[in-house]
Amino acid sequence: MNVSFCVNGESHELDVAPNTLLVSVLREHLGLTGTHVGCDTSQCGACTIHLNGRAVKSCAMLAVQAQDAEVVTIEGLGRVDDLHPMQQAFRDCHGLQCGFCTPGMIMQAVDLATQVETLDADAIRQGMEGNLCRCTGYQNIVAAVAKGAVALKAQSGEV
Ligand code: FES
Ligand code: FES
Repeated sequence: MNVSFCVNGESHELDVAPNTLLVSVLREHLGLTGTHVGCDTSQCGACTIHLNGRAVKSCAMLAVQAQDAEVVTIEGLGRVDDLHPMQQAFRDCHGLQCGFCTPGMIMQAVDLATQVETLDADAIRQGMEGNLCRCTGYQNIVAAVAKGAVALKAQSGEV
């Protein structure tokens, strides 16, 4: 089947099997391996991307369901020399250890920060509950999301 969508600002038209997962297309067809696969069962959130501006688990979607969608992966969020505010916050707060969960964490955190007006620690923990980390104990991730959310609001002129 043909599927056409835009990924990180670039249009793509691909021929995929009907049962191909979106995460497989991103990683194997487009080489965007920053989107990780931790479980394949919608549990861990390592595969989280943005689809039309909202965070989704790309292992839980078929590629054909992304027809005409705007997809952003961690590669499209910022650049090494110009990090997105949420990426910078994870760096500043040491919100990662092995880094396996981090791309999905950041994609989810950006969505959370844009959806929820006031993000206290409880709201962050609740909003990030679909993203699992086996290294950090979450404390620094919560701090990073809080800092990133403030930075994002400042960037958008809300504060
Ligand atoms: S790989 Fe998608 S939720 Fe774990
Ligand atoms: S930093 Fe290792 S899984 Fe989260």
